[in-house]
Amino acid sequence: MLAPMAGYTDRAMRVVSQRFGVEYSVTEMVSAKAVVFGDKKTFNLARIGADEGKVGLQIFGSEPDVMAKAAEILAEGYKEEGYVPPSAIDINMGCPVHKIFSNGEGSSLMKNPELIYKIVSKVSGAVSLPVTVKIRSGVDDAHINAVECAMAAESAGAKMICVHGRTRTQMYSGSVNKEIIKNVKNSVHIPVIANGDIIDSASALDMISYTGADGIMIGRGAVGNPFLFREIISALDGKECPEPTLEERIDVSLSELKLAIEDKGEGVAIPEARKKIACYFKGFRGSAVLRAGINSASSYSEVEKNVLSLLSEK
Ligand SMILES: Cc1cc2nc3c(=O)[nH]c(=O)nc-3n(C[C@H](O)[C@H](O)[C@H](O)COP(=O)(O)O)c2cc1C
Repeated sequence: MLAPMAGYTDRAMRVVSQRFGVEYSVTEMVSAKAVVFGDKKTFNLARIGADEGKVGLQIFGSEPDVMAKAAEILAEGYKEEGYVPPSAIDINMGCPVHKIFSNGEGSSLMKNPELIYKIVSKVSGAVSLPVTVKIRSGVDDAHINAVECAMAAESAGAKMICVHGRTRTQMYSGSVNKEIIKNVKNSVHIPVIANGDIIDSASALDMISYTGADGIMIGRGAVGNPFLFREIISALDGKECPEPTLEERIDVSLSELKLAIEDKGEGVAIPEARKKIACYFKGFRGSAVLRAGINSASSYSEVEKNVLSLLSEK
């Protein structure tokens, strides 16, 4: 599965990841309040194309009624040809960012399993789609309560739980607590998805065998590297997988950019895509020059020219 990442997991990244074998993606989080207020930008983030496979739509918030209303609205899907309703509504219970946490949203929900129960019950009652949750190991080292939160979510009707094995205080650093993911897996009866620091087939296989999880979810490791999904799927089948060639990287990175431009226009897509394109070519000869070049590029053809110039560095 492809993890939700604000500013990254857009439609383009989801489509490309699906081409490399991802079975399920989750959108960037959208604010339940903004959905209920009818914010247009938020609706654009929530668009799911018919060419994306299964996609969960993630909402964040803290008020059960608002979350339920937002889920009801979003479950209908984006009303335009080519777009489809989500496969599930996912509830963000892991965002560590101060602004979200201090509003009682994201990972702050883990301070209150009763509230988790209320939110999941309300949202489940409002939509016929499956409702899923994404949690962390806990708020901090003194409060590792993923099992309690997962059980609250399950008893309220959640159909799947993704666990990022870090506390809120860890943010994205320090090591992932695989033990807690395993404990969650052994405590609930719904599918548990393991997440955190999967960067290659070895870490993927290790996560699966250690935790016994029903699936794995990958975030940062897949930025500019959708090839990782192919590598892991091959490893699961016991097969070797060739490294992507420079030509393939060029082809896939430009197709991701084209998709993003179709969706958002060059003015938005190009500045957003710079960090992703740089990741496609990390460590390649000429990548520093490429980064500088795309940082000042403002059209597709300029980016393309810069990317293609890597071929002459071979
Ligand atoms: C830039 C960035 C944005 C993120 N945005 C979200 C988000 O919107 N919703 C969410 O549940 N998690 C979000 N996450 C967390 C990831 O989904 C994932 O749990 C985390 O990065 C650990 O997985 P990884 O090591 O595979 O990246 C974000 C992470 C990053 C780095």
